[in-house]
Amino acid sequence: MRLNAENISFRYGEERYILKDVNFSVGSGEVVGLTAPSGFGKTTLGKILAGYQRPESGRVTIDGAEIKSKGYHPVQLIFQHPEKAVNPKWKMRKVLAETEMPSRELLEAMGIQNGWLDRWPSELSGGELQRFCVTRALSEKTKFLIADEMTTMLDAITQAQIWNTVLGYARLHKIGVVVISHDQPLLERICDRIVNLTACSG
Ligand SMILES: Nc1ncnc2c1ncn2[C@@H]1O[C@H](COP(=O)(O)OP(=O)(O)O)[C@@H](O)[C@H]1O
Ligand SMILES: [Mg+2]
Repeated sequence: MRLNAENISFRYGEERYILKDVNFSVGSGEVVGLTAPSGFGKTTLGKILAGYQRPESGRVTIDGAEIKSKGYHPVQLIFQHPEKAVNPKWKMRKVLAETEMPSRELLEAMGIQNGWLDRWPSELSGGELQRFCVTRALSEKTKFLIADEMTTMLDAITQAQIWNTVLGYARLHKIGVVVISHDQPLLERICDRIVNLTACSG
């Protein structure tokens, strides 16, 4: 399977173009780093790939077919700030079970303790909360994962544990992963190839 972004152009309102004729592609089981200076549109492209934003022109396809807007999106985006990505009025068990309850095995691999399931989001640290957001995105229905500065806010040990689990899961389920990060050593360590967004424009 291949996720393709073809000739994507995008701007917010009538402002300057953030993305202009951008081409980007990732295959199943591939881990691709996406880098560029701050403000160059990495997050915007991630949102377009995951269907949060519609491009002004161009298209996003999987194996040539446009992605259905209804139902579970096969491209899942993980944000830098997990506290913005969960419903503060839901306990963690409900947050997790929104699509389907992950296996005990996956919860353990992600370092999620049983007792955390009965807490509110505000009762968890950023690192603990991010483990939930990552786990939630690792559904059987996920084909591609966009990790947007997913572990930037976390300490080195938590970062390593989360990446180990995610990359192991992605390998097993042949999920394609896009790693958006400023952290060049991280990209070099985990990616099959690294793409600079500034080189993606036509
Ligand atoms: N909702 C928005 N409305 C207007 N401008 C935005 C919005 N979101 C981002 N931008 C602008 O778009 C540009 C690209 O942002 P972003 O995609 O977040 O870049 P990056 O992730 O590479 O730092 C920035 O100049 C940012 O200020
Ligand atoms: Mg960003």
